[in-house]
Amino acid sequence: MEISIKRGSLRTHKTACIAVGVLAGKRLSPSALRLDKASRGALTRIVRRGDISGNPGEALMVPDVGGIAAERVLLVGCGKADGISGLEYLGALNAAAKALCGAGLRNAVTALGEISVKDRDTAWKQQQIAVSLNHAAYRFERLKSKPSRKPALTRAWSAVEDSDADAASRGLRTGNAIALGMALTRDLANLPGNHCTPTHLAETAEALASAYPSLEVTVLDEADMLKLGMGSLLSVARGSRQPPKLITVEYRGAGDAPPVVLVGKGVTFDSGGISIKPAAAMDEMKFDMTGAASVLGVMKAVAELGLEINVVGVAPATENLPDGSATKPGDVVTSMSGQTIEVLNTDAEGRLILCDALTYSARFKPDVVIDIATLTGACVIALGSHASGLLSNHDALADDLLAAGQRAGDRAWRLPLWDEYHKQLESPFADVANVGGREAGTITAACFLSRFTKDFHWAHLDIAGTAWTGGKTKGSTGRPVPLLMEYLLGRLAQ
Ligand code: BES
Ligand code: MN
Ligand code: ZN
Repeated sequence: MEISIKRGSLRTHKTACIAVGVLAGKRLSPSALRLDKASRGALTRIVRRGDISGNPGEALMVPDVGGIAAERVLLVGCGKADGISGLEYLGALNAAAKALCGAGLRNAVTALGEISVKDRDTAWKQQQIAVSLNHAAYRFERLKSKPSRKPALTRAWSAVEDSDADAASRGLRTGNAIALGMALTRDLANLPGNHCTPTHLAETAEALASAYPSLEVTVLDEADMLKLGMGSLLSVARGSRQPPKLITVEYRGAGDAPPVVLVGKGVTFDSGGISIKPAAAMDEMKFDMTGAASVLGVMKAVAELGLEINVVGVAPATENLPDGSATKPGDVVTSMSGQTIEVLNTDAEGRLILCDALTYSARFKPDVVIDIATLTGACVIALGSHASGLLSNHDALADDLLAAGQRAGDRAWRLPLWDEYHKQLESPFADVANVGGREAGTITAACFLSRFTKDFHWAHLDIAGTAWTGGKTKGSTGRPVPLLMEYLLGRLAQ
């Protein structure tokens, strides 16, 4: 859904709903005041009565406010009048978006761009409005025989002052593009393993390249990977009848500047292999390709915006299944880097495909390499669903990613990669073991990867806890596309 600019009077705008801010201390935002006047104080009465206090996160739907063309007004808590934090603002936007979409409205106007937010400008606010509304309006219904009968929000406007119009439209354009990328990521991640195979990921990348001439796609098959010596990646694919793919998407918007290379784990289903997982919640391992899906989502958003940067996306894609020819615990495989790996646990397969993809990424002469992976259950235990794990061999890159996550409301938290942890990966039979025991599982997984990233600046995002939600609202979140886009946009600004 494209969010567009709305200029002029809100009072006369015919729409299902207008969302306006209520500030702390039961004060109305400027737009709310205007609607209040038109309705002869209807909003003031509601606020005075105490039905909403103005804290970020609150939202109150008010039907039939007289004197205005809109059918409803959504009152949205927006905190202190002298400015709220970026994260509080995102909380307010998300509460508003959820209320609008939950009410089954077909269209809406938001006047939340006027709320003052500390250290954030008009463009940022409008960008977040577009991301947040799209995020809430997202549905995944392609596998249902009949679409849901509840109307979907298919049109939305953001009210903007004339003096802000340029910055606002820039922000909305950026946000709309990020939302488009996130929707692709979510569609791919939500699609189950029998639909979303490595071949499907490769075809999706090829379709992207047809839609955006600025994207160039290469897909390597098993024979190509064998020639390159990717024995580690191929050892994961051995248990599956689906052929593995190594997908590369190149975007060059800045001549021959060294690119950012994004490497995304694309395990389209992770059963654990011979080290098979327990049955409970195993269905969620269809989301184990979210790293790859977020790489494709970012490439789409970057192409949509035509950014003046160079970005290369690399997505190793395979299933991890048990079979007569599957890799067995104790098997030793040789990676593209030449390092040998003792596969002690076939369920630690993400690092086995990433290490070869990371070695491969050196050929792009990268400025930085960032891998994105649903890599460890330990990361879910450590950080829950609020932050992605971040590990890096370069402090400046790590700081940039942390800051980008903070700005986007898609936060990461850094863990160390100290030498001491490498001991856990020692093997009597090979150069390295693929698991390091129960302690510090997220760190030892990243330590394993770091052995393949010595030649460049590298960061690893463990998105095991952030990529999807479980339970009743099970589904892909689209993270960490917002973080990665904010990082890329930040590089552009430098
Ligand atoms: N894809 C999983 C990680 C995962 C598990 C993500 C649960 C989200 C929720 C990964 O391939 C895996 O199985 N990792 C193992 C590593 C272990 C064998 C060292 C894990 O975390 O249990
Ligand atoms: Mn696994
Ligand atoms: Zn996995």
